[in-house]
Amino acid sequence: MSQAVIRDLMHTPPVVVAPTLTLSEAAKVLDDNKVGAAAVLDGAGGVVGMVSERDLLHSVGIGHDPASDTVEQVMAKQPFTVNADDSIESALDVFRTHRFRHLPVMDDGHVVGILSIRHVVRLAHIEEVKPAGAAGAAELAPRGLEGVAVAETSVGDVRGEEGFFHYRGYDATELARRCSFEQVWHLLVMGELPTEADLKAFRERSVAYRELPAGIAELLPPVAALPNYTPLGALRSAVSLTAAAIGTEPTLDIPNEQVRDQGIRLAALVPVLLMRLHRHHQGLDPVDPDPDLGYAAAYLQMLTGERPDPVKARAVEQYLILTMDHGFNSSTFTSRVITSTGSDIGSALTGAIGALAGPLHGGAPSRALAMLDAIGTPDKAEDYLRREIGSGARLMGFGHRVYKTDDPRSTLLREVAQNMGGEQVDFAQHVEATALRVLNELKPGRRLYTNVEFYAGVVMNSAGIPRDMFTPTFACSRTVGWTAAIAEQAANNRLIRPSALYIGPAAPRPLPEGYGIPA
Ligand SMILES: CC(C)(COP(=O)(O)OP(=O)(O)OC[C@H]1O[C@@H](n2cnc3c(N)ncnc32)[C@H](O)[C@@H]1OP(=O)(O)O)[C@@H](O)C(=O)NCCC(=O)NCCS
Repeated sequence: MSQAVIRDLMHTPPVVVAPTLTLSEAAKVLDDNKVGAAAVLDGAGGVVGMVSERDLLHSVGIGHDPASDTVEQVMAKQPFTVNADDSIESALDVFRTHRFRHLPVMDDGHVVGILSIRHVVRLAHIEEVKPAGAAGAAELAPRGLEGVAVAETSVGDVRGEEGFFHYRGYDATELARRCSFEQVWHLLVMGELPTEADLKAFRERSVAYRELPAGIAELLPPVAALPNYTPLGALRSAVSLTAAAIGTEPTLDIPNEQVRDQGIRLAALVPVLLMRLHRHHQGLDPVDPDPDLGYAAAYLQMLTGERPDPVKARAVEQYLILTMDHGFNSSTFTSRVITSTGSDIGSALTGAIGALAGPLHGGAPSRALAMLDAIGTPDKAEDYLRREIGSGARLMGFGHRVYKTDDPRSTLLREVAQNMGGEQVDFAQHVEATALRVLNELKPGRRLYTNVEFYAGVVMNSAGIPRDMFTPTFACSRTVGWTAAIAEQAANNRLIRPSALYIGPAAPRPLPEGYGIPA
């Protein structure tokens, strides 16, 4: 931990109250000074207690009269004190052992400050248990918000320990096995599986929505010709342009039905934009989607210009269904934060694509494929994998933060890959079996299994999707999940506006003498 001492972190000067103050007077002192606790000093200036806003609330809760009862009756008497020059570690020990939240800080027999557990928590990189309970006091959530539920949703959920995830209660792998992209799309966005009539209408609507808004077709070639082109960066720009052309209004100002309708329109357009950009970038003419083809088949047809092999189209469809949504992931959260400001769905989707572009989220199914390339032939697998693990490297396509058992997506994608067949699939299965055996031997007890990336790369590659289009393909299906989340947020909105624990220099800081705009 740091070399800092308590003096560096404490709140000073200390807020103090007399033991004879009434509870409401003491509450006002805390409130006026915006602190959660005060030291209680006797007439001679000695510390006789500590009183926190939490103590005050609790005392009123158990029947004390705030107008007549005094601090003396509710304070923590003879509190533990720390010295200003003691280390932060020693303060942390006191907090841990005694479960105090505020400590008076002494120097030469006088109280010179108050140390709050929150001052220390940030420095120690530990997770705070609960806030001081003071009105307006911020709770420090664990880094990365792990394990913190920040919203209610009925879109879906992931149960990592069980190796299970679902969309609106239905097992997502079962949906991928039995349903079409459009059926699951309808489920996520409209909330229910479509009837036959619903599905027909929904298909017609989504096919009609593949038409680009006026002005967009002309804007795509320059985007595809920009220096430093990446498919996902170009898609992000194109989605933003398209939403502007459609005129997606603030979600705050339009009925939820309209938010969902704009979501369906944009989700139908995302693959069209992506494939046009891709073909422009390749110097090829764009291919319009065939209205007779469903989402997945049209996706491949726009890529190559030809009607795809049904087995390949179905394999891609199953991959797309499996990746539509996956709990409250970072890009979904991003889309909800943007929507919570009342902003339009185009902004929320653009932001979500930006979040997905991060290597920690969008992943890189192409990396698993690169590992297969690096191995080369089945006889080299064992040596290669042992060498990699031995050197501390991670095997791409194995291990997962949430799933500590088989990743249900990889289980199904393995079947999908097997169904497609081919040399690469056989090779991948050999590498997978070898990797699991070697991981079990060299990393026992770590619960490492094949993750979604391993077979996703194999399936997309076998379907003819270029490697640099793997993550953008994922963006297409995830757009469905985002639009469902955006509509849900807009339907029951509250501005998402958390706070941060300030850990910079003590404020207010005086500006240096004479400092200002240079003459
Ligand atoms: C996905 C991932 C980041 C999750 O990691 P995590 O839950 O944070 O796991 P940890 O980093 O705590 O690792 C736990 C142990 O398993 C090992 N481990 C985890 N994934 C591993 C992998 N793919 N290959 C080899 N060892 C691995 C770690 O080295 C560590 O070993 P140690 O106890 O000897 O230090 C990790 O498994 C990984 O990097 N996988 C490879 C990349 C990948 O496939 N990403 C796509 C994910 S969808």
